[in-house]
Amino acid sequence: MNEKLGNLKRSHMCGNLRTSNIDEEVILMGWVQRERNLGSLIFIDLRDTTGICQIVCDNIVSQEIFKKAEKIRSEYVIAVKGKVRERQSINKDIPTGQVEVLAKELRILNKSETPPIYIKDEDNVSETMRLKYRYLDLRKPSMQNKLKMRHKAAKVVRDFLDENDFVEIETPMLTKPTPEGARDYLVPSRVNPGDFYALPQSPQLMKQLLMVAGMDRYYQITKCFRDEDLRANRQPEFTQIDIEMSFVDVEDVIEMNEKLLYRLFKELKGIEIKLPIKRMTYKESMERFGVDKPDLRFGFELVDISHIVEESEFKVFSGTVKNGGCVKGINVKGYGDEFTRKDISKLEDYVKDFGAKGLAWIKMTEKGITSPIAKFLSEEELNSILETMNGEKGDLLLFVADKLNIVFDSLGNLRNEVARKLNLIDEDELNLIWITEFPLFEYDEEENRYVAKHHPFTHPMEEDIHLLETEPEKVRAKAYDIVINGDELGGGSIRISNSDLQKKMFVALGFSEEEAQDKFGFLLDAFKYGTPPHGGIAYGFDRLIMLLTNSSNIRDVIAFPKTQSATCLLTDAPGEIGEEQLKEVHLKLDLE
Ligand code: AMO
Ligand code: AMP
Repeated sequence: MNEKLGNLKRSHMCGNLRTSNIDEEVILMGWVQRERNLGSLIFIDLRDTTGICQIVCDNIVSQEIFKKAEKIRSEYVIAVKGKVRERQSINKDIPTGQVEVLAKELRILNKSETPPIYIKDEDNVSETMRLKYRYLDLRKPSMQNKLKMRHKAAKVVRDFLDENDFVEIETPMLTKPTPEGARDYLVPSRVNPGDFYALPQSPQLMKQLLMVAGMDRYYQITKCFRDEDLRANRQPEFTQIDIEMSFVDVEDVIEMNEKLLYRLFKELKGIEIKLPIKRMTYKESMERFGVDKPDLRFGFELVDISHIVEESEFKVFSGTVKNGGCVKGINVKGYGDEFTRKDISKLEDYVKDFGAKGLAWIKMTEKGITSPIAKFLSEEELNSILETMNGEKGDLLLFVADKLNIVFDSLGNLRNEVARKLNLIDEDELNLIWITEFPLFEYDEEENRYVAKHHPFTHPMEEDIHLLETEPEKVRAKAYDIVINGDELGGGSIRISNSDLQKKMFVALGFSEEEAQDKFGFLLDAFKYGTPPHGGIAYGFDRLIMLLTNSSNIRDVIAFPKTQSATCLLTDAPGEIGEEQLKEVHLKLDLE
């Protein structure tokens, strides 16, 4: 028998007591949220994972209990036996607010030092403190609810995929480098001096091998590791829902995944997303929104004005077009008055982060046009720009002239920034879209060669295969991303299952046969023995939970996350290791 619990057995959870429990004798256990001593009565708010319930210790009923209760402080762990009764002063803010428990027995199971952070949702404590004392931070109802939503989402995914004959199969964590293109986390091998495992950036190659192995439909909810620059929705170790199917083409994968997404939002949020989900090609997305993950909850689409200004006196514009660049703009329709010169100058700083050299603007006010560039434009040019961009009184037109990719990047992000600044984003709206027909390759300026935009096993679109050798930049892939509210939730593709096509792909990527064999030999060998056509997708599970819990920070949906600089403030990882351990794995440090 537990020394502290004695014969006490928990009968109810704190958050579940209702008026229907009145007169029942209950035993509750939990943490003290707060206690109030009113002289002859002590009220304790007792908290467990289901909620809070009020306990009353009455000096007249029992002096012994009252004395014990006087010693109780926040976060003490206690057990209470008592009778449920109607509460005098009803608290409408909590579900148990109509009842309270009159204590007949009280045990202090454990004391607590004064916690360094408050256990309540609306605190202003720094994230550093929250992460250092994560076990306290996780006591907050909001954090517990996020973890519970995470659990439920995993269950919905598992139920749905199980019903559809997918088999969950684990793949190794100690493995060879995978082809997702980020930096690897490496693990030295003790028994193979000088050799390293790579932690998987995804189970990509293994899931393809499982298709060769005839497993037909695979999934896994699993950790992936990528050593990359971290942002609000990126972690060095994160979780994917990873899916692969045999004997399928793009439509089959998309159809199955639309059903999965429908089920998730219906069961977990009560939202019925409209099927089929909209689709847009990569090309259209770039041209209209400047990015491949457009937020469709607001307008401000990109408009090209290169043809209007190519002969202009304004050299910033005409010079850029002559040098092969372009000039595009967005119309911040109807919100011109919201932006002062100072605000616009801040927007200019913002686009400079994306490589833009400046931000030209035209503001259309009651009194006419204000603009630092209007004086350089002919009347005809100005009118033509206003007409093309549908510029009217009250509008603000913003322009960037540069190389195409910089224009896309800066205006694409500026769109989002302007909408955020204007508070135009409806956080309750769910706007889903498939982005399709991604380019198969992108040009890597540093390496001076084409690299795979997704990975080297992505299948080209049938109608573009003939361009592989001649115009690789024009080849589109059987690849798709699912984008929700401007964030990439998941992405996948149909894979190459024909070895001749795979060889052509490696040639286009500039891999020699030896290099390809060295990197992916085990997969290429497997492909020789009867490979079914196959394809799949992977979702960022953490990002899904962010959506389901309206969280703007990925760390809030992970029990023990890493900071922006990939450290764990709770355990202090990563940390130094001793000489002995280094020696064991055959490493010598040579730090500058
Ligand atoms: P991809 O690299 O697009 O595809 O990854 C799939 C999804 O994983 C999520 N994600 C991340 N989430 C948090 N932190 C990160 N650092 C991070 N990196 C990626 C994103 C992304 O959409 N093997 C392929 C899938 C396939 O082709 O089947 C893959 O990994 O939400
Ligand atoms: P300047 O004559 O260089 O001072 O530029 C006049 C205006 O054009 C300023 O508002 C600049 O921000 C803007 N500008 C300069 N370079 C660019 C560019 N590449 N794209 C868009 N606007 C620019």
